[in-house]
Amino acid sequence: MALVVKAFFSMKFSEQFENRFVRMLAHYPTKRSVLVPTLLYAQDETGYLSPEVIHEIAERLELTDLEVENVISYYSMLTKTPRGKYNVQVCTNIACLVRGGEELLDHCKHKLGIRNKGTTADGMFSLEEVECIGACSWAPAVQVNYDFHENLTTERMDEVLDEYRAKN
Ligand code: FES
Repeated sequence: MALVVKAFFSMKFSEQFENRFVRMLAHYPTKRSVLVPTLLYAQDETGYLSPEVIHEIAERLELTDLEVENVISYYSMLTKTPRGKYNVQVCTNIACLVRGGEELLDHCKHKLGIRNKGTTADGMFSLEEVECIGACSWAPAVQVNYDFHENLTTERMDEVLDEYRAKN
């Protein structure tokens, strides 16, 4: 089945992506149901959802490109523009706001030298102010790609950024 899918569609994704895609199609009740996880897996591989990726996924799931774009616009974790390798999402919603979320965001802007929704020149970090990420009890909280960092101070935030930078 995976071979049939790969032969039929034009975009090159990894074998892991193709295997996941085939498994999801078998488990979900409709093709449309696999749209969000498929977009996430595709974005993990390509960095962002380009028009080519959107068109490919729309074709695979028998949707229009516009239907796919509408779903992308609803989810903050999905993006149609390139981001840095590490996407730093700083929550400034109420629980984080009262515990220093805005100061943390300002600190990240200063430390990384970019504005909200900006990307560092080396492509390492993107910065994004976001609504609640579900970690209110441990505010202020930041999400970097799929990792959560909680009870942050500006000093701890510096360490977090340094840890990601050191991974490369
Ligand atoms: S308000 Fe920041 S995680 Fe909920």
